[in-house]
Amino acid sequence: MLTGATGFIGRRIQSSLLAAGFPLRIILRPGSKHARHLDPRCEVHSCSLSDAVGLRRAAEGARAIVYCAGSVRGRSLDDFLPANVAGVSAILQAQAALKSQSPLLLISSLAASRPELSHYAHSKFLGEQMLREHVASPWTILRPPAVYGPGDTEMRPILKMVRRGLVFVPGGKPQQLSLLYVDDLAGAVLAWLGAWQQCSNMTFSIDDGREGGYDWPGIAHAAGCTRYRSLGIPYFVLAGAARVNWLVSRVAGFAPMFTPGKVRELTQTDWLCDNAAFVQATGWKPRTQLPSGIRLSLEDRDLKT
Ligand SMILES: NC(=O)c1ccc[n+]([C@@H]2O[C@H](COP(=O)([O-])OP(=O)(O)OC[C@H]3O[C@@H](n4cnc5c(N)ncnc54)[C@H](OP(=O)(O)O)[C@@H]3O)[C@@H](O)[C@H]2O)c1
Repeated sequence: MLTGATGFIGRRIQSSLLAAGFPLRIILRPGSKHARHLDPRCEVHSCSLSDAVGLRRAAEGARAIVYCAGSVRGRSLDDFLPANVAGVSAILQAQAALKSQSPLLLISSLAASRPELSHYAHSKFLGEQMLREHVASPWTILRPPAVYGPGDTEMRPILKMVRRGLVFVPGGKPQQLSLLYVDDLAGAVLAWLGAWQQCSNMTFSIDDGREGGYDWPGIAHAAGCTRYRSLGIPYFVLAGAARVNWLVSRVAGFAPMFTPGKVRELTQTDWLCDNAAFVQATGWKPRTQLPSGIRLSLEDRDLKT
């Protein structure tokens, strides 16, 4: 069973599970604007993540659960809680009610390791805590860093600019960033399905295996750009712009991505993973290195609308 199957990452997990021959049950939120991204081979349960009865019905007989639903935009902690925390709790309750021993994989985020930075990071941390306090059935937490690839709308504009020779460095200080191509994350889910016993009640960070991550010159190089202009954007400029965006979102009523909390995330000097433990536990190996990953991402026309 998979939640978040209509999102950027969930769509690729959906495809790779179906390609591997797994029968797939999807929890689709009622009113989702992205139902067209579901493959007709999926068994779809239209059910809110707060609907205890619907979740119980959907989870019945599921051999494993992959929780990939998540809120990545919002103004306050409350905006992030339903998908990042309450939904996790509701699925665990459904499993407990069913006395299910099926393993659950939570797609969390490296941001959960720094909950003080933003409402998003805090909510991902709280979602993880839900699992850590849960003893009735096995669970695993995966913490990806920034994920990029076809269908992505967040990294793509940045990578496009880098390829054109313009590198904006948030905060202006050198950064080291781990990255992960989306299909390798989907591959990690497959690997977990084959080896969840070895990952039981454990938390893993995973990336593309590049030790020490990438600095911006390295990302520009991977994008095929040998001559580029690097512009450091001071923290106070980003923070001011994010504050304005936050206020505009309040008036206009949209869920913002670019917030003061996001600026604190973006200006960290390092976001690094070490995938060795997950590789050892599952045999998973990331296949896509940054140059080909960027090429595949920028060729993609499947932009989420
Ligand atoms: N993208 C990254 O770089 C990255 C990095 C690390 C971790 N992650 C984590 O990976 C997960 C997926 O991220 P993504 O980039 O694929 O995000 P996304 O494209 O925004 O997709 C989010 C998914 O969650 C569903 N969802 C959101 N709120 C929901 C709610 N209240 N009830 C039920 N379903 C809800 C969405 O359904 P609808 O289609 O109906 O809106 C969609 O299927 C998130 O948990 C995120 O924290 C992402």
